[in-house]
Amino acid sequence: MRQQLEKLLREAKEALDEVQNKESYERLFYDILGRQGTLASMSKQMKEVPENIRKDMGKFLNMVKDELVELFEEKGQTFTRTEKESTFFDYTLPGTAKKRGTIHPINQYLEKVLAIFTSMGYEVVHGNEVETEEYNFELLNIPKDHPARDIQDTFYIDKHPNWVMRTHTSNMQLRTMQERKPPQRIVSPGRVYRNEALDASHEAAFYQIEGFAIDVGIRLTDLLGTLETMMKGLFGNEVDVRFRPHYFPYTEPSLEVDMSCLICKQKGCSVCKKTGWIELLGAGLIHPKVIENMGIDSAKYSGFAFGVGIDRLMMLEHGINDVRLSYKSDLRFLKQF
Ligand code: PHE
Repeated sequence: MRQQLEKLLREAKEALDEVQNKESYERLFYDILGRQGTLASMSKQMKEVPENIRKDMGKFLNMVKDELVELFEEKGQTFTRTEKESTFFDYTLPGTAKKRGTIHPINQYLEKVLAIFTSMGYEVVHGNEVETEEYNFELLNIPKDHPARDIQDTFYIDKHPNWVMRTHTSNMQLRTMQERKPPQRIVSPGRVYRNEALDASHEAAFYQIEGFAIDVGIRLTDLLGTLETMMKGLFGNEVDVRFRPHYFPYTEPSLEVDMSCLICKQKGCSVCKKTGWIELLGAGLIHPKVIENMGIDSAKYSGFAFGVGIDRLMMLEHGINDVRLSYKSDLRFLKQF
C-alpha cells in the first residue's frame, strides 16, 4: 500500500508536469483526487490493511493527499495566470474617461459679474430666499396695497402668512445695512421668484445680483459709471446700452438699463420680444426713506442700488434663445459649458 501510494505521488507529479491545458488538468484532477479517483479507491482499501499498521498507513495516505492537493493547486494557479496573460489586451485603446461635472453656465456667469465688482472693491454677501413681506416689500417703500406688488407677484408660504419667496435681491439692501455702518459697497447674488407665465424669456425662478453703495455724496453719475464699467467688462465696447427713466418705489430717481440684443443683432427675436433691446437691470439712487429704514441718516448719506438679472446676460453671451433650458438639467445642454 505504501509503495502504491508513493507510486501514485510520483506519477501524479510527472503527469502534472506534462499537463498543457485546462482540460487535461481537470481530467487528471478527477482521475486522482475525484470521488471515483485513484486516491478514493485506495482509501477504500484501507480496511484490508492489517490492523497493527492501519493507523500509520492512514496517516501516510493523508500526507500524500495533502501533497497532491497542494501540487494541483500550484499547477492550477500558474495555469489560470498563463491563460490570463495570453488573453490579448490592447493597451493602446483609449481609456474609460471619468465623467466630470462642470459649473452651471449661470454660476459661471455669476462668478464673472462678481469678479468685476470685487475688483472695484465690492464685498459679496449671500442672502435668504424665503423672506418676510416686510423685507421684500414694506421696508422698500412698497406698502400692502401698492400697485408695485402686482408687477412682482410671488409665491406665498402657506403656514406663514407673512412669508414669501423673495421677488428680488433688494431685500439684501436692508438685511445688510441694518447690521452695518456706511460706507459700504456690496454685491449680493442669489435666486429670486416670480409667479410668471413661463415662456422663452420668463421663468418662475431666476438669478439676480443686487449691488449697492452707500457713502457720503454718492450721486447718479457714480451709478452710471459703475454700470458702464460692468457692461464694458462683460460685453466689450461694441454693445449698445440705453438708460430709460423708470419708477421703483425704493429708488429716486429710478432708471432701467437695456442693451442691444446680441442674439438677433437687433433684427428682432423672441428673447428681445422683437424690440432689438433687452431689459437688463433696474437701478436708481436709494430712496431716502429706505436709507432711514436701514437705520442710517439720509441727510448725511446717500447711495445707489441696482438689480441685474443674470439669466439673460448668460443667454446673451452664449446665444441661447430659451431661458427654460437653464433649468431643465438636460445634459445635452449642460455639457456644452
Ligand atoms: N429690484 C428690482 C427688480 O427686481 C431691480 C432694482 C434693484 C431696481 C435696485 C432698483 C434698485 O426689478
